[in-house]
Amino acid sequence: MKQTESSKTIGIGLLGLGTVGTGVVKILKSQGRAIEKKTGIRLALRRVCVKSLSKKRGVALDRRLLTTDPSDLIRDPSIDILVELIGGIHPAKEIIHRAFLNGKHVVTANKALLAEEGGSIFREAARLGRKLGIEASVCGGIPIIQSIREGLASNSISQFLGIVNGTCNFILSAMSQGNLEFREALRAAERSGYAEKNPRLDIEGVDSAHKLAILARLAFRTEVPLKAIFVEGISKLSKVDIQYASELGYVIKLLAIAKRHGRAVELRVHPTMLPLDHVLAGVRGVYNAVFLHADQAGDLLFYGKGAGEMPTASAVVSDIIDIAKRATGQADLKVRKSSPPDALPVRPMDEVVSNYYLRFQVEDKPGVLGRIAQTLGKNHISILSVHQKESHDSRSVPVIILTYEASEKNLRRALRAIDSKGGVRQKTVVLRVEK
Ligand code: NDP
Ligand code: HSE
Repeated sequence: MKQTESSKTIGIGLLGLGTVGTGVVKILKSQGRAIEKKTGIRLALRRVCVKSLSKKRGVALDRRLLTTDPSDLIRDPSIDILVELIGGIHPAKEIIHRAFLNGKHVVTANKALLAEEGGSIFREAARLGRKLGIEASVCGGIPIIQSIREGLASNSISQFLGIVNGTCNFILSAMSQGNLEFREALRAAERSGYAEKNPRLDIEGVDSAHKLAILARLAFRTEVPLKAIFVEGISKLSKVDIQYASELGYVIKLLAIAKRHGRAVELRVHPTMLPLDHVLAGVRGVYNAVFLHADQAGDLLFYGKGAGEMPTASAVVSDIIDIAKRATGQADLKVRKSSPPDALPVRPMDEVVSNYYLRFQVEDKPGVLGRIAQTLGKNHISILSVHQKESHDSRSVPVIILTYEASEKNLRRALRAIDSKGGVRQKTVVLRVEK
């Protein structure tokens, strides 16, 4: 850290100059003066590490800053904060550990790494007295991490529901508004820089599970083993269910759901039907939102762009400024030893209780519907409403049943029995409904 007469300089090493890294450089260039005026800190970009030196960049940059060797950043004594924006587990994990050992603070947007290896990274940061900024890892530009950590510090959080993946919300919004098919919408999300390098992480719900693990860790102060999270993505969702849901007054969103039940937690990610008047129902496109209940503050809604160059870069730079303030004595840098997080057990999915939308594709003949209703009843599943659709296929018709609350265990048992009997033409489609 270098000190001039009027302002102090903090050196930044940027690892990765893709979508988010480019946004960070743009903000440092366009807002550097304003940040210095507000904070008295000059943020100086010292080195930028990339994979390819010859690639054309989306921002003008002194080529001499570029390197392909992360050690050039880790060993540079003029760098105070290393910003990791390459993604993936390796070599990001090793680079962060080496940066800590070399006295650097770290800012990262890498939710996959934090969800899979967060425990050891947080412990290492605390052990060595380094700061770790993770605001950009969840919900892009929404300051949700800081809000949970600081704004809600006096609260106990009992549950949250989140639309935490911009790509999926973009795809679902495009499909339900009828303007794009699944593949086209995914390609548009990729072109806009929203999707992960491997977009299966988005559409299979894994990215949402990563973010759920990070948020639940902070909200419930517990370790979250990723494997304990139930995950279902949107890749198998059919357009016909989006349409039927809409006719019934619902919209389908990919939700990350976390609920605390005493000493246990419920953690799941899956497409969910929401009534149109639900606060999350109107969240469209790349927007994310988290609806959270805290015991003192009550219900809270966080809303904003969840992915993309500038919203995510804004969160990265807010972490840089926060750490820079601490490093220059404007706030406390000391990393306090807090008690380690609990290891609250995660409720098995079988015990989770929900309302359901069930779409049966059945033979259009007497007795079939009666048998289905009987099997549901035998398994303690009570029917809320039944809707039979007209079909142009003379052999089968879609029948939609909405249920009252039932356990997953009972539902699965009932569906095994129903789907294995005659009269049902294909595996029953199940969507969970959140009221
Ligand atoms: P990109 O794929 O656009 O960029 C990755 C960058 O990292 C590229 O500049 C690439 O270099 C560089 N890179 C990759 N591997 C190495 C390596 N081994 N050594 C040096 N440089 C390397 O990713 P994004 O910017 O989209 O994402 C970055 C991180 O931010 C990820 O963890 C992502 O999950 C997260 N994130 C992304 C959001 C988004 O909206 N895109 C939102 C929130 C988080 P080169 O350019 O030379 O190929
Ligand atoms: N692929 C992620 C998304 C990026 O679409 O939400 C933001 O974390």
